[in-house]
Amino acid sequence: MRRFNRIAQAFALSSCAALALAQPALGDEAPAPTPVHPDKWPAAKSPDFIDPAIEAKITKLMAQMSLREKVGQMIQADTAAITPEDLREYPLGSILAGGNSPPIGAPDRSPAEPWIATSHAFDAVALEKRKGHVAIPIIFGIDAVHGNSNVVGATLFPHNSGLGAMHDPELMREIGRATAAETAASGIHWAFGPTLAVPQDDRWGRAYEGYSENPALVAAYAAPMIEGLQGAPGTPNTVQAGRVSASVKHFLGDGGTTEGIDQGDTQVDEDTLIRIHDAGYPPAVDAGTMTVMASFQSWNGIKMHGNKALLTDVLKGRMGFDGFVVGDWNGHGQIPGCTNTDCPDTFNAGLDMAMAPDSWKGLFNSTLKHAEDGTIPMARIDDAVRRILRIKFKLGLFDAARPYEAKWQDVMGAPEHRAIARRAVRESLVLLKNEGVLPIKSSANVLVAGDAADDIGRQSGGWTLSWQGDGNTNADFPGATSIYAGIEQALEAGGGTATLSVDGSFSQKPDVAIVVFGEEPYAELRGDIRSLEFQPGDKKALALLTKLKAAGIPTVSVFLSGRPLWVNPEINQSDAFVAAWYPGSEGAGVADVLVGGATDFTGALSFSWPKRADQFRLNQGNADYDPLFALGYGLSYAKSAHVPALGEEPGIDASATNTSTYIADGILAKPFTMGLDGAVSQRLVDSADRQEGAIRLDWTGEGQMRIDGPNLKLDREANADMNVEVIYRLDTAPTAPVTLSLGSGTVRIDEALAQPGTWSSLKISLKCFGQHGTYLGGITKPFALKAKAPFAVSISDMRIATDPAGTVCPE
Ligand code: BGC
Ligand code: BGC
Repeated sequence: MRRFNRIAQAFALSSCAALALAQPALGDEAPAPTPVHPDKWPAAKSPDFIDPAIEAKITKLMAQMSLREKVGQMIQADTAAITPEDLREYPLGSILAGGNSPPIGAPDRSPAEPWIATSHAFDAVALEKRKGHVAIPIIFGIDAVHGNSNVVGATLFPHNSGLGAMHDPELMREIGRATAAETAASGIHWAFGPTLAVPQDDRWGRAYEGYSENPALVAAYAAPMIEGLQGAPGTPNTVQAGRVSASVKHFLGDGGTTEGIDQGDTQVDEDTLIRIHDAGYPPAVDAGTMTVMASFQSWNGIKMHGNKALLTDVLKGRMGFDGFVVGDWNGHGQIPGCTNTDCPDTFNAGLDMAMAPDSWKGLFNSTLKHAEDGTIPMARIDDAVRRILRIKFKLGLFDAARPYEAKWQDVMGAPEHRAIARRAVRESLVLLKNEGVLPIKSSANVLVAGDAADDIGRQSGGWTLSWQGDGNTNADFPGATSIYAGIEQALEAGGGTATLSVDGSFSQKPDVAIVVFGEEPYAELRGDIRSLEFQPGDKKALALLTKLKAAGIPTVSVFLSGRPLWVNPEINQSDAFVAAWYPGSEGAGVADVLVGGATDFTGALSFSWPKRADQFRLNQGNADYDPLFALGYGLSYAKSAHVPALGEEPGIDASATNTSTYIADGILAKPFTMGLDGAVSQRLVDSADRQEGAIRLDWTGEGQMRIDGPNLKLDREANADMNVEVIYRLDTAPTAPVTLSLGSGTVRIDEALAQPGTWSSLKISLKCFGQHGTYLGGITKPFALKAKAPFAVSISDMRIATDPAGTVCPE
């Protein structure tokens, strides 16, 4: 009961916070920064970064550079919002490709070749011989976070939560090396990883980007991963040697945000910040990480992008970091008093390069002005530019040779890299339950079921070809193996058979069923959840398991997820249950352990597994630690244990926590409700794929359909280019304007609607609502759909969506 009270209280608090945010905070006093004592922090030092010969070259270059060129080095633009020609007028120092950003003139999902061409196109302009221009190569960065995961044909390694379960720092070095080779082979110089977050709340959508809730494990992985990517200190660290810069992130405290809300506030004292969240950084600096990425989130109310004590006094001072600090995606714009296009404070706090994907031009102009008038002191500019040039030299970017690009076809998805990834898959599997059904004999007849069984996108998770990992099909992964394909290979080799049947139907009773299911891919924001219950709505996987059990078939669950979730009912319906995380492109690693018995399980949990869906901050060492499976748990063939029937009360009502789905298959998603005013009526009709899967709305005159619900805060989603997507069919074309409002902003949509009679998608960007008057930081009245004359539309779905393709913003 006490626990329930605490949760009720937490919700009460969060809805107060939302109310407070409904009004723009005018004249609010910023919180006082928490004092920092650099001497308390573990010391570190970038190894031999200061080479007098290189420093002299930098001094010489800087003496020739104009202020405009210096400021340019400090700004990074995104491939989706800049052309190489732009660099003539705006001499920027860096380019990134965001999760949804394509190479130039090619689709977002592209193999290495167009990426190489893109990198060269920017370099060509940056290195042009022009009067009054100092030729400096660009540094090109990408989210190569589980392999070079944004490029078609790359080897994809398990996401970090799975790698944590391996407890194998030496394999991390191999993974880093293979990732670097494939990144360098794609014309890219810089991987935005590894994430050194120590996730403390599994509701956080980025929990899977962290290796463990345990700071010691994160610390143990930092150096080998960085040395794998960059080469060890004292060895060649250049792109010519197939190495790329790492970027440890997100400095600092991202894994500690209150309630697991991405880009939120980490409310801990200095000692806790050091003990838990800083654990990976001193070893990362000692191992020579060339860059550090600042975090979106705040520490006790102060945005990290503006926290001078931590960025400058601690990181560059106490920790002796001599590389450069890069910002996160318009992260500077979240500092009070800053905008995406104007923010001297971030540079004065110690940021060396701002990530200004679409805001680079404005930020360049304002920063130049601040440099000219001394708002940003010249010494600060010179320090930032020196750090950036130092890394460009260290990486060999001034040398035109690119041997890895020349052999990209051999390097991308190389068998040797895939073998490392497959081994990582084997080592990351954690056996949670086995009542004797595993290992499966290689002569068995096996039914392979579940919607993730033969889906490489599903097994790869977020940050895979697209930002959220959505929209991928098996054809996007040449050379990869699905979990089903791996099982099939293993059984065929042993005389058994594998039959793929997503829905679990069969004509001949199999010896055993392997059911592959789990979380859909996601990245930040969309991955944030309010309850740890798996599939709180339809419990589809549970229904499938129950059906197979009822038919007398032993069941093995392979659960794909970024984090531990509450799956007690699913575990109860499984004879064996394997936590497989997001294994990536080498699905055959699953069969290596499940089939035949030659390879045993060695994986052990690096995140504690919950007993109830409300155990959000379940971390070893907490006073009330009461997990279902403790940190370090993992069964094997050698070491078995009986798992008794588990309780099936989740402890929290998950439906009360939704803020991003409004209508799903014609049903109002809780806690949202629908209201009708005026001359409009509703009834259920069939959708494209479901009986009674849509709500038909008929206007006979003036009226509106409202969606009412809790206050919404969608400013972070707007910054990330998300949109409101409506799946609809126009039934009667309107003869007068039809509008959709989100809070106080209204967009006219009748001209954006498709022809009557076909199911279509309408996507309006959140930024568009912002331009039409929505205050995205606090929306009190969610949606209203208004018409003044006869009009009819059927709606099956309405939600916040992430894929920007096809987004419109009507005038
Ligand atoms: C993420 C970073 C990522 C960057 C570039 C941000 O939104 O927080 O982790 O490296 O975008 O895609
Ligand atoms: C980009 C990501 C980025 C995110 C910012 C997306 O549009 O593709 O790379 O991390 O926005 O939150």
